[in-house]
Amino acid sequence: MSLNEKHDKAAKNIRRPGTERADGTLDTKELIRYATLAASSHNTQPWKFRIRQDTISILPDYSRRCPVVDPDDSHLFKSLGCATENLIHAAAAQGFFANAQFDPSEDGVIVTLRSDPSAHASDLYQAITQRQCTKISYDGSLVDEPELKLLQEAGTGEGIRTLLMLSEAQKETLIDYVSKGNTAQLTNKSFRDELVSWIRFNHGEALRTGDGLSGRTSGNPSLPSWLAKLIIGLVLTAKKQVDTDAINIRSSAGIAVFISTRNDKAAWVEAGRAYQRFALQATALNIRTAFINQPIEVLTLRPGFEKWLNLNGEHALLMVRFGHSQLAPFSQRRSIDDVIIKH
Ligand SMILES: Cc1cc2nc3c(=O)[nH]c(=O)nc-3n(C[C@H](O)[C@H](O)[C@H](O)COP(=O)(O)O)c2cc1C
Repeated sequence: MSLNEKHDKAAKNIRRPGTERADGTLDTKELIRYATLAASSHNTQPWKFRIRQDTISILPDYSRRCPVVDPDDSHLFKSLGCATENLIHAAAAQGFFANAQFDPSEDGVIVTLRSDPSAHASDLYQAITQRQCTKISYDGSLVDEPELKLLQEAGTGEGIRTLLMLSEAQKETLIDYVSKGNTAQLTNKSFRDELVSWIRFNHGEALRTGDGLSGRTSGNPSLPSWLAKLIIGLVLTAKKQVDTDAINIRSSAGIAVFISTRNDKAAWVEAGRAYQRFALQATALNIRTAFINQPIEVLTLRPGFEKWLNLNGEHALLMVRFGHSQLAPFSQRRSIDDVIIKH
């Protein structure tokens, strides 16, 4: 079996069909497997799960934080929100209603589960194993009105609204912001070092760690680590990223910005949940999504960006492009046993 085939087989295995039932019993490990299929910043999977009678806590794993790109851990808590959303849909498929609350005293999300005969597997649940951040160019086709409405509804949450931008003029302004963000980030040594530490240059490394950004998911060749480290300076340049992102944004049907009334841990969790719902709804409609967060991550760009969006005291927390394309290879995940707290 080739390394590409091994990579894709492992990714497929972690995304195997889940448990659906309605007999009042719960397979909590399956819920957690589905939760870990969520998006996370740099694929750090910065979560730990604690199983108790009737509750599952989704807690931050600060050993996986990214202090340069995410100094306030906002992306980390958004990632916990993404996992929370998946877990809720997986619980419904097993006949359970799940209520999720951010609990400041636990510094995490507490999901309370109760048997509910009306709960069932939804389209969003079915989409969990198919969702991915599709980081390639899209085909330029439009998304029609009824689908846009469904996406916008899915991206609405407690204190969260989704702003859709579809015009060419808006895309060009966004390209300008994303380009400035790429230049600021990729000319910053600390940012580059942190990013490189999460890049898995070859499939063997991606399979061994089960995390990080594997070249296979973004169409880059698998390279021996020593060679990759030698040529990374030539490959990972601001100019290349600026050009690639401009092509990718122009190829997309539109851009969605997730906007919040608040900017704290509870709001970051809600924003992650709204993105994950949006992406699951998109997946169910055969629409792809990929993040373009640079104007939000680069703190010197954010105020101007939020002003351009006409935000009045609100906060732009996440941004994705969306459109149509083939699926790309899927990313890896760590073993479920590595993320469950044992005591
Ligand atoms: C809060 C958050 C921020 C992210 N930021 C970016 C980003 O700026 N650029 C990008 O290409 N992907 C970004 N991602 C996507 C991750 O790279 C992706 O979720 C991860 O590699 C796992 O891949 P998957 O979502 O396809 O399963 C982000 C994800 C989350 C949850």
